[in-house]
Amino acid sequence: MRSLVILFLAACTSAPPPPPAKPAPEQHAHADHKGGMHHRFENANEWAKVFDDPARDEWQQPDRVIEALALSPAMTVADIGAGTGYFSVRLARAVSSGSVIATDIEEDMVRYMTERATREGIANLHAQLTPPEDPKLAAGSVDRILVVDVWHHLGDRRAYAAKLAAGLRPGGMIAIVDFKLDATRGPPPKHRLPADAIAADLAAAGLATEVSTIELPDQYIVIGKR
Ligand SMILES: C[S@@+](CC[C@H](N)C(=O)[O-])C[C@H]1O[C@@H](n2cnc3c(N)ncnc32)[C@H](O)[C@@H]1O
Repeated sequence: MRSLVILFLAACTSAPPPPPAKPAPEQHAHADHKGGMHHRFENANEWAKVFDDPARDEWQQPDRVIEALALSPAMTVADIGAGTGYFSVRLARAVSSGSVIATDIEEDMVRYMTERATREGIANLHAQLTPPEDPKLAAGSVDRILVVDVWHHLGDRRAYAAKLAAGLRPGGMIAIVDFKLDATRGPPPKHRLPADAIAADLAAAGLATEVSTIELPDQYIVIGKR
C-alpha cells in the first residue's frame, strides 16, 4: 500500500500497482495510442487505494476543481477517464437533479464505479466503457466535461478534443486538469504538457480557452467554452 501511494505521489501514472496479475504492460498496448503516455490502469481495487486515498484531498483540492466548473444542480456532466470515481461521486452529489457520465477505457474501472455508485447510493452516476480514441458523447448532450490527469495519456489529442467539443451543449464548458511542468508529483517530466499546449488543443476544436485563475498546488486547470 505504502509503495502505491509513493508511486502516485511521486509519479502519479508512471508505474502500475503491484502485483502485475496480467501479462506485462507492453503486451497490452493500445493499438491506436500515438503520442501520449502509454499506461494501463488495471485492477481498480488496488488503484482505489491510491486514487481515493484521503491524503489526496490536500493537494488535489477537489472542491476547488469543482468550483471551476460552475455547476448547477440539473446539469449533465461527463467525467472522462474517471478511474475509480474520485471526482465522479463528488460531481454526482453536486448535480443532485442532473447526472454524471463517468467514462474509462478500463473494464475494471467501469466495474468498480458501477459497484461504487450502488454501494454509496448514488443513482445519478453512470459508468461507461469507451475506446481510447472516442469519449462516445452524443452531440450536444452534456453541460460540463471534466478531464483529470488523463490528457497526457491521450494519443491524438486534437482529434479527442474535437469529439469532446462536439459533445458539449452550446454554452457548455470543459475543464482539463493536469500536472504543471515543475510539479512535485505527476507523470515523468517528459510526459507532462504545458497548459498552453492543452489550451491550443481546445482552441483547435473551436472552444474559447483560458487557464483558470483557480490555482492548485501542482496542477493547472485549462478551461474551454463552447
Ligand atoms: C491517472 S488516472 C485518473 C483517474 C481520475 N480522473 C482521477 O482523477 O482520479 C487516468 C485514468 O484515465 C483512463 N484513461 C486513459 N486513457 C484514456 C482515454 N483515452 N479515454 C478514457 N480514459 C482514459 C485510465 O484508464 C485511468 O483510469
